[in-house]
Amino acid sequence: DKGNHRHFMEKEIYEQPEIISHALGHYIDFASHTVKSTDKAIDFSKLSGLAISACGTAYLAGLVGKYWFERYARLPVEIDVASEFRYRELPLSPTQAALFISQSGETADTLASLRYCKDEGLKIGAIVNVKESTIARESDAIFPILAGPEIGVASTKAFTCQLAVLASLSIAAGRARGTVSEADEKAMVKHLAEMPRIMSKVLNEIQPQIEALSRDLSRFKDVLYLGRGTSYPLAMEGALKLKEISYIHAEGYAAGELKHGPIALIDENMPVIVIAPHDRFFEKTVSNMQEVAARGGKIIFITDEKGAAASKLETMATITLPNVDEIIAPMIFSLPIQLLAYHTAVFMGTDVDQPRNLAKSVTVE
Ligand code: F6R
Repeated sequence: DKGNHRHFMEKEIYEQPEIISHALGHYIDFASHTVKSTDKAIDFSKLSGLAISACGTAYLAGLVGKYWFERYARLPVEIDVASEFRYRELPLSPTQAALFISQSGETADTLASLRYCKDEGLKIGAIVNVKESTIARESDAIFPILAGPEIGVASTKAFTCQLAVLASLSIAAGRARGTVSEADEKAMVKHLAEMPRIMSKVLNEIQPQIEALSRDLSRFKDVLYLGRGTSYPLAMEGALKLKEISYIHAEGYAAGELKHGPIALIDENMPVIVIAPHDRFFEKTVSNMQEVAARGGKIIFITDEKGAAASKLETMATITLPNVDEIIAPMIFSLPIQLLAYHTAVFMGTDVDQPRNLAKSVTVE
């Protein structure tokens, strides 16, 4: 049931605040502001490293997770798309653990990667939506994302719930390894607890601006997304979402890679969407944005209040989100990205919930 929404995708975008709040309840204690101990089959305290694999949007969630596990838990992460991971002959050791992220829990390549790691003697964790799935069944530890059924083929709420679970697990891993203090844990968990309320506010505030902007965006054939740090996987997620439902060609790039190739494409016919919260990478990303502006590129700037105040560059549009802590920024910045793809596709008149050639669950290689 779509309720009063035009598409399941729209409904699933708007239910994120409530669903994430519910999902977080499984991983954090709202009263004491601590992470709860979840499935103990994986002991993060003793690991030498983590391998992560998944496909598509789930892979991009894992890529954000890599930044978190490395920064907060000082745990080196090997990550690759499952279709490459399974054939890489990556040397692994039982002192590592492996995490597989899958909404459906049935993706063939992800399952094959899981079995490879199992044969190598690693403990296996599954970050899944469907708890009865094959991937969940074959894992030692299950970390449910609790997103409820996702009907729209383009993943939205599963992505932000995967991020919420990864954020919680990286804090838990940091506590277990002594790299996150009790005070840091409290502070980060407080930010996570505030996130649902901020998500609701953002969804309501940015909708009219994004809808108007989407009308302009739907006239272009190519779009480039740029980001740095955890905003880099978000740039790729933004591009993936736009191409799969609007069929507009889009690429997501690490902002620092701009001058190593894609800058050759910059002209007034290819908008550049820059995702840049005012974090420790902000100045660097703005200098990449300057390179775009200097070549007549059109910029759509997705930033926060501090970032909007700090940049004087002329843009096609600036989407200003509230200033938020960096642990929740990827989830908050997912919202404009999802809405932009959604409204652009609606303007183009595509089949938003059932895009051509795509399947919700990919059980063949
Ligand atoms: C994109 C999308 C796909 C899936 C991918 C993995 O919006 O939905 O890229 O993320 O096919 O699917 P799961 O998570 O079921 O393994």
